[in-house]
Parts: sequence; C-alpha cells; structure tokens
Amino acid sequence: MSDIRLQDLLIQRFGQSPDVPAELQDNAFLTAFAARGSCRSFGAEPPADHLLHTIAAVALAAPSKSDLQQRNILIVKDPGKTEKMRTLLAAQEWIAAAPAFVVFLADNRRQRQIQDWHSEPFPNDHLDAFFNASLDAGIALHAFITAANAAGLGCCPISTIRNHMNDVRDLFDLPDQVFAVAALAVGYPATEPAVSARLSLDATVHTDRFRATTRADINEYDERRKAGTDAPLWSLAKARMYARAQRSDFGAFIRRIGFRTD
Ligand SMILES: Cc1cc2nc3c(=O)[nH]c(=O)nc-3n(C[C@H](O)[C@H](O)[C@H](O)COP(=O)(O)O)c2cc1C
Repeated sequence: MSDIRLQDLLIQRFGQSPDVPAELQDNAFLTAFAARGSCRSFGAEPPADHLLHTIAAVALAAPSKSDLQQRNILIVKDPGKTEKMRTLLAAQEWIAAAPAFVVFLADNRRQRQIQDWHSEPFPNDHLDAFFNASLDAGIALHAFITAANAAGLGCCPISTIRNHMNDVRDLFDLPDQVFAVAALAVGYPATEPAVSARLSLDATVHTDRFRATTRADINEYDERRKAGTDAPLWSLAKARMYARAQRSDFGAFIRRIGFRTD
C-alpha cells in the first residue's frame, strides 16, 4: 500500500477525495491510516506480552473526557482465559484462530471511589456517567488499533463480547460500574486486510450545517461497494441485521451494575 498516494487511497475508499495537499500525498502515517482494515486472519504466534503492554501504554496517551481517564485496557494473558474468550465468542468462526485478546473496559467506578476518598458527593449519577466512560474506552480501543497497526499487528474489534456480559464480568472479576465496551483480537496478519469502501464524503463530512443523507447517497454507496461482487447490497444487509433484536437486555445489565440511565 505504501506506494499508493493518499488521494488515490481516498478515492478507493470513498469514491471521491478532497484535493489532498501535495505535501501530504506520500505521508506515511496518513497513507497507512487511510489503508487500514480489520484483520480476521492471523498467524498462530501471539504477540509478545511486552509488545501488547507497550501498545496499551501508547494507546492510553489518547485524549480522555475531562481528563477523568475512565477506561482500562485488560490484556488477556492466561491461556485458560484466552480459550474461554474463544469459546464465548465462538459464534464468529474466525475468532477460533485469534491468537490474543485485549478487552476495553469503561470504568466509572474509579471516579466514584475518588469522590468517596475526598468525601465529595457524586450528583452525576445519570446517563452521562455511562456515556463518558464508554466513549473513553472507545477512544482507547481505536488508539490501540492504530498503535498496533503501526507495530505490524492486525486487529479486529469484537462487539459480541457484549452478548456475554455476565460471563465476562466473572471471567475478569469486573466490579460494579465497570464493563467491557469491546474486545479486540490481536495478532500478526496472515493476509493483508482489505480496504473496505465507505459511505461518500458528501454524505458523511458536513460543512457548517447538517446535511441529511439521501436515498441517492445510499444507492451510490450500495453500487460502489457491491461492484463486481455477488454480495447483497450493504444497506439491505444492514437493514436485515437491524430488523432482528440484539442485546435487548443490555440496558438492564448496565442498570444492574450500578449505572442510572435516566
Ligand atoms: C466497536 C466495534 C465492534 C466491532 N465488532 C465486530 C465483531 O464483533 N466482529 C467482526 O468481525 N467485526 C467487528 N467490528 C469490525 C467492523 O465490522 C469493521 O470495522 C467494519 O466492517 C469496517 O471494516 P474495516 O474495519 O475493515 O474498515 C467491530 C468494529 C467496531 C468499531
């Protein structure tokens, strides 16, 4: 990918590109970032422990809401726990061959402890507490992926960990107000991840005011994404995916572990 110019990569990704400044056309970080993709096929060798810890440290340099740092990165090292993760997540076949897992935890408990230790009240026990901790964990997830990619590793986030919140809580001894936002499979890529097409920049980058997505935007993306394949249209696949209930017990779980969601 490194010999492809940024503008060409963006056209490949979005079907269009801004006028990329000449001095950025060959920027190594930006071209690598624009070419990134989720990796679901790995060599058997797991990444070394100190490598994962280094990437976690770099990832935690990412910004954090109000500097509250309401996230933790849990590296799964124990082989028994790694195997348990594979079993829990077995509904996705590719996960059986994932060499290592990392779990991104939203942690609002620490803030409540700090309130207690300073004898301060916590009048912010409402949806914002859940939202801020979730966002912090999501930012750390993405920062970890970016750092891991830069270190030659491939990654794929796993949202289906949230189908097993109670098992995950038991497996990792998670207390109240701490929960897994996503897991991440990590390893050395066996094949280079594909660059998956995205919705157009016209639909997703707005200037000065919101621009509603049109049916034409979606049709254009469906056709561009489908080009030359027999895959179903993206929008139809997503509509069918979201026509089935998923994790309808998630809110109840979040309230059970001590969040108010009003
Ligand atoms: C929070 C989150 C959860 C995800 N969960 C899964 C998952 O459970 N299984 C999977 O195969 N991919 C998962 N993905 C990866 C997305 O499917 C992927 O990012 C998307 O298809 C775009 O492809 P790309 O990452 O290769 O550009 C997840 C991504 C995110 C950000």
